Amino acid sequence: MKSLTLLPVGYPLRAKSEDISPFLTTDDPTLFQHYARSQWTGLIVKEGDFLFDSLLFPDYAFRAIIVKPNESQISKNTEIVLFSEETPDPPITQSQELVQLSDIIGQEQAKEKCQVIAKFLKNPDLVQSVWAPRNILFWGPPGNGKTMMARALSQTTSYTMFLIKASDLLGVYAGDGARKIKNLYVEARKKAPAIVFIDELDSIALKRSYQSIRGDVIELVNALLGEMDGVEKNQGVVTIGSTNQPKILDSAILSRFEELIEFKLPNAEERKKILEKYASTSPIQFNAVQWNFIVQETQKWSARDLKEKIIKNAIHNAILQENSQISLADIKIIMRKTTTLKESLPHYS
Ligand SMILES: Nc1ncnc2c1ncn2[C@@H]1O[C@H](COP(=O)(O)OP(=O)(O)OP(=O)(O)O)[C@@H](O)[C@H]1O
Ligand SMILES: [Mg+2]
Repeated sequence: MKSLTLLPVGYPLRAKSEDISPFLTTDDPTLFQHYARSQWTGLIVKEGDFLFDSLLFPDYAFRAIIVKPNESQISKNTEIVLFSEETPDPPITQSQELVQLSDIIGQEQAKEKCQVIAKFLKNPDLVQSVWAPRNILFWGPPGNGKTMMARALSQTTSYTMFLIKASDLLGVYAGDGARKIKNLYVEARKKAPAIVFIDELDSIALKRSYQSIRGDVIELVNALLGEMDGVEKNQGVVTIGSTNQPKILDSAILSRFEELIEFKLPNAEERKKILEKYASTSPIQFNAVQWNFIVQETQKWSARDLKEKIIKNAIHNAILQENSQISLADIKIIMRKTTTLKESLPHYS
């Protein structure tokens, strides 16, 4: 075997009450390589296999995550690497998209909260105080600016923002998710003041009864609870979660959020502003469209619906038809098509 990367996974077999296992690390990769070769030379390993320590930490498990070539024998020359806890995981990304708070139409309560968060994060004394915002939940129906608000918040350069999708935290291996949460907060604390934005939180932090479907989700939720409580020193890190369905969230997670901010469907005035805003950036001109008519017909439509289903489709249609302008009649046709599609979908609301 040429090379082998090992992920420390702890004690996969343990008594129920025992704590999640420590994450093993080394300051001396060469020494670890000697140590690993001394006990596993001769073993044939393929990706996904577990290797159990029999020397210093009896039964501590490592998972072979990269084996080159796959399914080969460990020799005295195999390069053996311990996957490092310091290695940041790919989903921990900093937002690049340019959106300002002023681009968001409506959602005034959320905007005000974001201004408060930004003020705290810009002031080193304030951010250390017990009054600093800590855990905030954005909730509401899809497409009304939760993720957009997080992006806008990340545009201020005086702090770092970690934007992650909760489903990206679920790993392939047991313990992966908990480790990713830990890494995420280690990184956030290093870069404090910082915001950790966990999008689509409901995909992991489900009620306990649902969690049993995936055992590792329980570990992940426990890791997240620990970070939200700030058992470790956590000053300067604000967590913002986002979900469509707070009702299905784990009650322990839900109770950690000091504030639940609702993102509502746009009202008539906001719908008009949204339509006008996106129409104004269209490459094809909207010709004297009476937006009031469309506003009346689009109750319960989200901002995303208005942008994507009306404005975007109207532009695509005009391009296809080689029209140089878009009229109200064109939009009516598009809306009729969209509405029919909506009605034909069983659970669309
Ligand atoms: N309040 C708003 N003002 C202007 N544009 C908006 C607004 N809300 C949403 N949009 C537009 O719709 C797009 C989708 O919105 P966003 O991704 O923020 O929704 P979300 O609330 O995070 O939805 P989901 O719950 O599905 O994740 C945005 O990128 C933006 O173009
Ligand atoms: Mg979103």
